[in-house]
Amino acid sequence: MYRLIYKSRSNSKIGWSSVNKIIESSEAYNKDSNITGVLLATETHFLQVIEGDFDEVNRLFMRIARDPRHDEIQIISFGCVDGRLFGGWAMHGIGIFDFNAELIRDLVSQYGEEEGSVRFPVQDWRVLGLINDLRVI
Ligand SMILES: Cc1cc2nc3c(=O)[nH]c(=O)nc-3n(C[C@H](O)[C@H](O)[C@H](O)COP(=O)(O)O)c2cc1C
Repeated sequence: MYRLIYKSRSNSKIGWSSVNKIIESSEAYNKDSNITGVLLATETHFLQVIEGDFDEVNRLFMRIARDPRHDEIQIISFGCVDGRLFGGWAMHGIGIFDFNAELIRDLVSQYGEEEGSVRFPVQDWRVLGLINDLRVI
């Protein structure tokens, strides 16, 4: 089992419609490929965790990296792991947008600010901490 985490910058303002579009179009592919994970989005950035077999994670990441909807892709980590953290989700979307002003303030105080929202961290342990913070809300 392998896990890859990357951060990228969107080429247009992200909202729920763009997140949902990605999630909906990912479902069949991820299920067929036995991929699970989570996709976080602010209005400007994506952060995604992809889990699965070595070949499948590589194949999907190469597709995603070619997607013109984002660039400035930075791999945060890629490695062999004991098991899945997101086994229940083909791809779970979490949007951190305007209407969550109080939540964004809390996250910014903890993780820092980037372009008006929470700065997605570039250390894998902090990414997992952020996802954990979001899941308990
Ligand atoms: C931020 C982001 C995350 C994505 N995540 C996935 C994903 O988990 N699974 C998936 O099949 N496609 C995902 N996509 C879509 C792929 O990049 C691509 O559009 C899709 O796989 C179709 O590829 P194709 O046009 O080469 O057939 C994502 C796109 C973006 C911008």
